[in-house]
Amino acid sequence: MDRLLVTGGAGFIGSNFVHHLVDHTDATITVLDKLTYAASRESLADLPESRVQLVVGDIADSATVDPLVAAHDTVVHFAAESHNDNSLSDPSPFVQTNIVGTFTLIEAARRHDSRFHHVSTDEVYGDLALDDPKRFTEDTPYHPSSPYSASKAGSDHLVRAWVRSFGLRATISNCSNNYGPWQHVEKFIPRQITEVIDGRKPRVYGDGLNVRDWIHTEDHSSAVLAILERGEIGETYLIGADGERNNLEVVRAILRHLGRSEDDIEFVRDRAGHDRRYAIESGKLRSRLGWQPQYADFDAGLAATIEWYLTHETWWRPHKDAVEAFYAAKGQ
Ligand code: NAD
Ligand code: DAU
Repeated sequence: MDRLLVTGGAGFIGSNFVHHLVDHTDATITVLDKLTYAASRESLADLPESRVQLVVGDIADSATVDPLVAAHDTVVHFAAESHNDNSLSDPSPFVQTNIVGTFTLIEAARRHDSRFHHVSTDEVYGDLALDDPKRFTEDTPYHPSSPYSASKAGSDHLVRAWVRSFGLRATISNCSNNYGPWQHVEKFIPRQITEVIDGRKPRVYGDGLNVRDWIHTEDHSSAVLAILERGEIGETYLIGADGERNNLEVVRAILRHLGRSEDDIEFVRDRAGHDRRYAIESGKLRSRLGWQPQYADFDAGLAATIEWYLTHETWWRPHKDAVEAFYAAKGQ
């Protein structure tokens, strides 16, 4: 694992992962990123040029992908269209990037016998009832609800089939909801933090009782690195930090941290097909690879994240109006 190709490394989780690699390994890293609306060159700007290089390109373009995969020993695949609400408005880029893009990468990895890690989501398992005592495990059947989660499920199935049929040296991880610095303001936590900063009310879909299992992005990074270093080829690992909270609890915490009344909430139109609850059982990752989350205090992590958005307004401000116009048009 000396030369890593990290797809989507200019996005939220990918850029945090590249920082994690620079801090915790000696690897040199090439980021392959199309620089969509969700990307940020700035998130990589402070990294040493001797360690990290950015190539702007599309993972679905074989002419770009093949020589890059050939020149690296390991591929870590984060690149995706990642936002459920966008997938409900226009599913097409989700199929193109998440399915065709993943196909293009694993074909190249097969040709060059590369070690491949596929980053995926807990949403492939569908949702759980609020009172269900079960959590998702590696054996939970796939049951995706949205165009986004269906496209990620499709990409997971491709990787699994390439392992079995072609001996691709791949692992897969399915992680729960990430939060932390550099997350686009379209996503729930940054949207609500920046709404409150702007003196407005957080916008909560439906009754606000939907549960997400929050994990700090730094813990996602350390888990992916543990899988790269110690994971068994062909295995899937669920990544989670026991962070279940409903959306109302999260917005109330944001309001509290920013000195506003916890009742200052606007309930808006629900998301179509809105998954009720996600919950991860990450015992396999913990027991087999010895991984533990280091940022499990959600309230402290949220406070640090709020502070980050307060001090990085020049980064998120240029995107805020377009995001709010998108939601306003949908009554959200
Ligand atoms: P993001 O939207 O912030 O970043 C995605 C990155 O991929 C961007 O930099 C974008 O430019 C790049 N990209 C998109 N299409 C591309 C293409 N065709 N070619 C090359 N680059 C392209 O997403 P994120 O939240 O950082 O998610 C990263 C990965 O982690 C995704 O695979 C996502 O499914 C998965 N994941 C996300 C979460 C979460 O909570 N955000 C949780 C579990 C898994
Ligand atoms: O579970 C992992 C997934 O988490 C990842 O695969 C996705 O890439 C990532 O975007 C995230 O998906 P969600 O749909 O869970 O995240 P989102 O931030 O869009 O919404 C979180 C919850 O908040 C969800 O119940 C919808 C709700 N919500 C969202 C927004 C943007 C609101 O109530 N109001 C909002 O304004």
